[in-house]
Amino acid sequence: MLSIVILAAGQGTRMRSAMPKVLHGVGGRPMLQRVIDTARSLEPAAIHIVHGYGGQDVRAAFPDGDLNWVEQEKQLGTADAVHAALPVIPDDHRVLVLCGDVPLIAAETLHRLLDRAGYNPALLTIEMADPTGYGRILRDPDGQVSGIVEDKDAQEDQKAIREINTGLMVLPAGPLRRWLADLSNDNAQGEYYLTDVMASARRDGSAIHAVTTDSASEVQGVNNRVQLAVVERAWQWRIAEGLMRGGVTLADPARLDVRGSVTTGTDCVIDVDVVLEGEVRLGTDVAIGSGCVIRDATLDDGVRVAPQTVIEGARLRAGAQVGPFARLRQETDLGPATRIGNFVETKALTLGRGSKANHLAYVGDARIGEGVNIGAGTITCNYDGRAKHTTVIEDGAFIGSDTQLIAPVTVGRNATIGAGTSLRRDAPADALTVGTGRQRTVPGWSRDPDASS
Ligand code: UD1
Ligand code: CA
Repeated sequence: MLSIVILAAGQGTRMRSAMPKVLHGVGGRPMLQRVIDTARSLEPAAIHIVHGYGGQDVRAAFPDGDLNWVEQEKQLGTADAVHAALPVIPDDHRVLVLCGDVPLIAAETLHRLLDRAGYNPALLTIEMADPTGYGRILRDPDGQVSGIVEDKDAQEDQKAIREINTGLMVLPAGPLRRWLADLSNDNAQGEYYLTDVMASARRDGSAIHAVTTDSASEVQGVNNRVQLAVVERAWQWRIAEGLMRGGVTLADPARLDVRGSVTTGTDCVIDVDVVLEGEVRLGTDVAIGSGCVIRDATLDDGVRVAPQTVIEGARLRAGAQVGPFARLRQETDLGPATRIGNFVETKALTLGRGSKANHLAYVGDARIGEGVNIGAGTITCNYDGRAKHTTVIEDGAFIGSDTQLIAPVTVGRNATIGAGTSLRRDAPADALTVGTGRQRTVPGWSRDPDASS
């Protein structure tokens, strides 16, 4: 049986933030969330999260019932943190130690570690060009791991060792209880080091297994915002790579940001500086122009989004075209082959097949049928200062430019609304409705007051 302990009690002072470190986001989600998701994928018997500073904020961010929260009152070191969780872990469990600030660790690597460990201690190590600051792995002449020495406690020759402790390890719960009881904090930092249990294990006659990874990003910890950015870029690259391998062309994989999850069909093309947030679903052959921000949206096959368009909470059906400079807000549902052009804002709009609003319009709280043309400058006046009202436009209607549709109002099938109309009452089907004053010409009138006699 497996128990997972996620260490998250560190203060994170170097983030210089009012927010607890593990709540800072990577790819749009708190880093602790990423570690929890990976932990869950291993299907452990229990997940224990050790928290300290800002614990209430951290707990509140993860209300799920499968998490056991353990408070470490004082940050006396990593061994003390694991010790805090140990009372509720049965002796026959294996304890996998993860860190809330090492967010990109992959489940596959952890499986490798667990497979190698059996019921022995095992740790995940990596070779580093510059190992400064990390615990160094000590090995016997025959290659067996004999212990870990922390950077601050290391002798000069030990500092030259480039294989370091990632901090991720698996330990058998029963013996661990014993080994932890033996530890002292007589070291450079005056802390109880979890790393010291390796030497205790060795004295106990346990073999210590080491699994080495070559993925620096997987084991990259976040102590400050520079490392946060490093981890963010690594994550973004991972996502971009997945998209490209799945048949998506990225104009520049370094200039796409996915802050959430995205699914795609093949032959999508995404230009530079696009941000996808929340849950975004793209069909096949979807093209997204540069500078678009798309959040919680579904774009069906063949959709075209021209540059600088912002989409949030919308569904775009096959072949719909939007932008440039369009803004689709929540509950927008564009039918197949529809067209939304520049400087058009939509909200709670259902637009039927083939209908279009090509320029400068606000279309909100509206149900619009098929084959409707919305002229430039059209506004659905949906709000009377107190409540929102609906505009209904039936199939085939033509709305002239600069029309105000004062809701609630209905435009009948194939009706035509003359340009400049303020439509206050329903417009009947198959007829022209014009609401502007009659045009008049004053002969001989001049702009120059002195010239007119
Ligand atoms: C630790 C390891 C070091 C390893 C490095 C990898 C020890 C003694 N050293 O060092 O060998 O190379 O990680 O990054 O384990 N934490 C608590 N409570 C505490 C102290 C720490 O929950 O009392 C948590 C921190 O929030 C963090 C993790 O444990 O998530 C590691 O702590 P940190 O202080 O960063 O350890 P390092 O000194 O970097
Ligand atoms: Ca650290």
